[in-house]
Amino acid sequence: MKRVLVTGGAGFIGSNFVQYMLSNKENIELLVNLDALTYAGNLENLTEVQNDKRYKFVKGDIRDKELVEKLFCEYDFDTVVHFAAESHVDRSIEEPELFLTTNIVGTQTLLDAAKRHWKIQPNDKYSCDYRDGVKYLQVSTDEVYGALGETGMFTETTPLSPNSPYSASKASADLIVRAYHETYGMPVNITRCSNNYGPYQFPEKLIPLMIHNARNDKALPVYGDGMQIRDWLHVSDHCAAIATVLEKGKIGEVYNIGGNNEKANIEIVRLILAELGKPESLITYVKDRPGHDRRYAIDNTKITTELGWAPVYTFEQGIKETINWYLDNVEWVERITTGDYLNYYTKMYENI
Ligand code: NAD
Ligand code: TYD
Repeated sequence: MKRVLVTGGAGFIGSNFVQYMLSNKENIELLVNLDALTYAGNLENLTEVQNDKRYKFVKGDIRDKELVEKLFCEYDFDTVVHFAAESHVDRSIEEPELFLTTNIVGTQTLLDAAKRHWKIQPNDKYSCDYRDGVKYLQVSTDEVYGALGETGMFTETTPLSPNSPYSASKASADLIVRAYHETYGMPVNITRCSNNYGPYQFPEKLIPLMIHNARNDKALPVYGDGMQIRDWLHVSDHCAAIATVLEKGKIGEVYNIGGNNEKANIEIVRLILAELGKPESLITYVKDRPGHDRRYAIDNTKITTELGWAPVYTFEQGIKETINWYLDNVEWVERITTGDYLNYYTKMYENI
């Protein structure tokens, strides 16, 4: 039975992962979700699991050493899945410092607590086996590899070459995780996934933003020429891949996660307009993002051949379901765009 700490479980991927684990994995004894509820954290994403006896929410910051230590002592975690991060590239251009402290120092705080709690000392890995079943998983991104030209794909050995403050902070965190493995023998994995789409994504990211604007007949802001390429994966396939790495990943290894779905931004925007029956005249080309990465593409050979994971969704099916989800959950989007969701925590948790 597993005692899992999930950080950032009120965000887009984290909340999908919490739901995925509690519905699909019978070996979860306890799952604690530590989330600071920044603008991107929304407990409404988790209403389906909030009464599950195995689930506990803790509002707090991953950089709060005392709190993190206390949680390890109180709950005796054997697994950490670290999602919590500042995740939006455009915000990182405006406010790099927040990205560095949350994404880098926050990661180190978690690693230190896990190291102390798991009694992992320097060079343990040379003298004994890892404590069975203990694992720290760092949820990273393909953006740490930088940008590709027209050909080629990111493999796990592609040199890190991040271009934005966001990706630089994620790459730094990856290097710290690696160092804790090499130096202290920490039982770690790093996963690097391509762009996710699906339910509960904050409507500042491309797909939910474009659906929201198209629905409201507002301009769809396409950066630069719209020919930048992203490699899209449905969030539930990402969650399944993380669960696979937790179960079967070889300690110390990095696994790329992607579903071979390269699309230019403008293709996605046109597809959304077509699905919603809206005119292409809503497309508005705007000034390009500084340092905008041209193309990402993941080579998923390692995780598919060594661990047997494969995506379930085709992009065609996944994007239709996703568009329908946002149309069926207009109130969820409205509460975010008006800021109302920020009151949810106070309303639901004022007595505890
Ligand atoms: P998100 O922005 O939707 O959610 C981030 C969550 O972290 C929020 O709930 C927020 O409240 C929480 N958080 C932020 N700072 C915190 C802090 N100091 N302490 C505690 N909680 C804090 O992000 P997401 O899109 O769900 O991404 C989750 C992770 O997956 C990130 O690490 C991101 O780098 C990685 N990732 C994302 C994508 C993608 O396409 N979205 C792809 C690959 C990897
Ligand atoms: P985004 O969803 O922010 O993810 P990332 O930057 O992490 O890949 O953006 C996806 C792509 O869409 C990226 O190339 C930037 C582009 N984009 C736009 O063209 N317009 C927008 O309003 C946004 C948010 C993104």
